[in-house]
Amino acid sequence: MRNLISSGLKRLKRQDSKYPQGDKSATVIAVATVKGGVGKTTSTINIAAALASTHQKRVLLIDLDAQGHCSTSLSALVPDAPVYTPISEVLLADDQKQVLDSAVSTSYPNLDITPADSSLAEAEGLISQKIGKEMLLRDALAITRTHYDVILIDCPPNKGNLTLNALLAADYVLIPTDLSPLAVQGADELIDAVLTVNERLHHKLDVLGVVLTRVDGRNVSLNDEIRKQIKDAWGDYVLSSEIGVNTQLSQAQHEGQPIFAFAPKSRGAAHYSALAQEIYNRIFV
Ligand SMILES: Nc1ncnc2c1ncn2[C@@H]1O[C@H](COP(=O)(O)OP(=O)(O)OP(=O)(O)O)[C@@H](O)[C@H]1O
Ligand SMILES: [Mg+2]
Repeated sequence: MRNLISSGLKRLKRQDSKYPQGDKSATVIAVATVKGGVGKTTSTINIAAALASTHQKRVLLIDLDAQGHCSTSLSALVPDAPVYTPISEVLLADDQKQVLDSAVSTSYPNLDITPADSSLAEAEGLISQKIGKEMLLRDALAITRTHYDVILIDCPPNKGNLTLNALLAADYVLIPTDLSPLAVQGADELIDAVLTVNERLHHKLDVLGVVLTRVDGRNVSLNDEIRKQIKDAWGDYVLSSEIGVNTQLSQAQHEGQPIFAFAPKSRGAAHYSALAQEIYNRIFV
């Protein structure tokens, strides 16, 4: 006869995690907004790289977007056939798994990444069926965060279950926006979601900042008008470092490298270096 009884009760005698507790306590940053294509992934990978190299922090980059753009953007640094458990499996597992199961080392100093996982698209829906559906990532980071100084999460461009999990797992949210009306509305919507998460789910997520990305120096008057609105509304939450349009940033992504490895003297490298320094100061100083 087929076995009728699940092994559930064994979980009462929970095995110790296969990972030892580390001696760190990571600051977790979700990089999120509702609008697509505004530079979330570009920002996530380059801030991660700067914190790992210049600031010598041990960094984990979590690619929570089914598009897998973090992984393609750093493909030159990731081993060819890495052994890992896809992050969607970690999130959906009944037994408590850790994001450490998904992490692989890169050839960049101090930088680990969870590789691309196209099953995240399916996971987005399946998460709804789980008890504690908003807390899956937070739980899966409990031990993982003791092994890193900073964990950056690249979110999909929406407010779905994966983004919600990132917000609930994070201490801070970083919101990239370009100076287009739709992107600014997307950032506004995300800020609204942060407030709702804090109120309804009793979380203490802080806005690390809104960062202006893809700033095109040629649209001076429109830029100034939108920038003024943003600063009037969000004040000190607007980071002073802005990221200008720089084709070397997209070329670096195409070559699978952070800008600091591909074109260290470029404007893009200077802008992301200044942004990472500002973020470092807000978190660690
Ligand atoms: N400052 C910049 N200058 C020039 N190109 C940029 C800049 N920032 C991003 N890009 C390019 O714009 C495109 C979108 O950027 P990115 O993938 O980072 O956005 P995203 O918000 O993560 O998008 P998605 O919502 O699809 O995940 C990419 O091709 C990227 O190389
Ligand atoms: Mg992206």
